[in-house]
Amino acid sequence: MDEPPFRVTLQPQGWTFEAAPDQTLLLAGLAAGIRLPHSCRNGTCRTCIAQLQSGTIHHRIEWPGLSAEEKLAGWILPCVAQARSDITLQAPAATQIVNAPRPVVLQAPIPPGPMPTDRDDDVRIST
Ligand code: FES
Repeated sequence: MDEPPFRVTLQPQGWTFEAAPDQTLLLAGLAAGIRLPHSCRNGTCRTCIAQLQSGTIHHRIEWPGLSAEEKLAGWILPCVAQARSDITLQAPAATQIVNAPRPVVLQAPIPPGPMPTDRDDDVRIST
């Protein structure tokens, strides 16, 4: 049976999304339309670094690119972090993913003037 997801809240935006226990915070955010800065996605480049304000996470790799002091201060790498409770993250660089542009409806240009007619069943209104 699947475990219920945890709630992730981003500050200062106040945005929230759900993260399954086996899902990284980065991928859970992307699935919810929220983009955290990222690059390598494997815990080495530190582009995604964010600060945990409350809750518990687990890094799914043994040696994420963080010092012991950074871990104690609550810094995490969302690309390899999984929620273990509801959490709040300080992530001011997070952005919402803008929906794809609306499809363009192609239309033939309308010729100027009245439309030519050569059919008897055309409707004509005369005054
Ligand atoms: S994206 Fe590189 S460490 Fe997270």
